[in-house]
Amino acid sequence: MSDASVESPVENVNSNAKSLTDSIFVESKNVHLLENEIQTLRIQNEAMKAKLLETSMIANNYLQEANNLKDQLDKLTTPPLFIASVLEVEDDLALIRQHGNNQEVMTQIPPELEGEVEAGMRVCVNAAFSIITVINRAADVRAQVMEVIRSPGIGYDMIGGLENVIKEVVESVELPLTEPELFENVGIEPPSGVLLYGPPGTGKTLIAKAVASEASATFIRMSGSDLVQKFVGEGARLVKDVFQLARDKAPSILFIDEIDAVGGMRTHDGTTGSAEVNRTMLQLLAEMDGFDTSGNVKIIAATNRVDLLDPALLRPGRFDRLIEIPLPDEVGRLEILKIHTKKMNLADDVNLDKVAKKTDGLSGADLNVIIKEAGMFVIRRRGKEVTMQDIQDGFDKVVEDEEQSNVPAGMFA
Ligand SMILES: Nc1ncnc2c1ncn2[C@@H]1O[C@H](COP(=O)(O)OP(=O)(O)OP(=O)(O)O)[C@@H](O)[C@H]1O
Ligand SMILES: [Mg+2]
Repeated sequence: MSDASVESPVENVNSNAKSLTDSIFVESKNVHLLENEIQTLRIQNEAMKAKLLETSMIANNYLQEANNLKDQLDKLTTPPLFIASVLEVEDDLALIRQHGNNQEVMTQIPPELEGEVEAGMRVCVNAAFSIITVINRAADVRAQVMEVIRSPGIGYDMIGGLENVIKEVVESVELPLTEPELFENVGIEPPSGVLLYGPPGTGKTLIAKAVASEASATFIRMSGSDLVQKFVGEGARLVKDVFQLARDKAPSILFIDEIDAVGGMRTHDGTTGSAEVNRTMLQLLAEMDGFDTSGNVKIIAATNRVDLLDPALLRPGRFDRLIEIPLPDEVGRLEILKIHTKKMNLADDVNLDKVAKKTDGLSGADLNVIIKEAGMFVIRRRGKEVTMQDIQDGFDKVVEDEEQSNVPAGMFA
């Protein structure tokens, strides 16, 4: 048999119990450790979650910035749109003419703009000539280029130094409107159009307004330079429109200001600018030719540069009555000064004769500004009367602004 290393049963039980408690001890220690570990992990987990939230917020910001930049890039890289005028509309097709190069194309009207595109409108087109947007309606343009005043409320008594001119204008414009039978009885046709020419600020616009007022006619003003500068591609159509408007509002005075802008010598340099001006001018000639001179629409044009006008405009049946509006002479200047100081409280020392004498070369508009400036000096010092010194100061101020004047400063006092 083996040696007597046989343990007693009691010993056996004891040792078993001991190892059990040992292992329980170890286990509980492990559990404790694990619990600690779980706790730590939980804390770490929370921290990570917070970090994740933070980074996703940052990521979001970057995403937004990226989108913004993409939008900007899109905007910067989209090709520009071109402006075109709609000439005709036929069902869902539009005939358009691109401004600048005057290329005419037929294009499909996109479904979302159907019914909105009309002949005479301005539209934006892309490089493929698709209509992208409508810019404005024809009426808007008409309102911008034409000024319509129903009887402007200016009398001949508000115009100084132009008696002979006024007489001529009355004969050729006012009488045919107010007493057409005078002309019928004698059997002569009144002039088709009257052209007023002369330096700036001499009263051309004023006279046209006065005729309209005195004849109780509607005053319609169209500016030649607006036509060719602001409404490129539409000049010819606007000329047609303004003549129509004048007929609708008859009796009326159609006043074409700065006619040299459209009616300058026709150039044939092939540039689109001159092509545009020429088309506008041809339309003007056509309207003048088709004009009924015995009707109750009268045309007055004005220019500073008659020498620049196309002779075609001055032919019989067109602007066949030329009236010069010169700078005022001394008598004229005195009349103008009296008109503009009529409502003013003048001091006893004011001598308008002296002012008129010393303002050679100045226009009615210059004199008007001088008087207004003098009035401002009085207001600034809270005074009640305009003195000679105020007029002197107003004069010095205006003449300083306008160096071209040949009148030296400091002349009245
Ligand atoms: N003969 C005048 N009598 C009274 N006021 C005048 C006269 N001429 C000019 N004025 C004054 O000057 C202002 C400008 O005149 P107006 O607009 O008629 O000049 P214009 O000849 O049409 O000038 P432009 O060629 O620059 O258009 C008038 O509103 C008026 O106050
Ligand atoms: Mg004018």
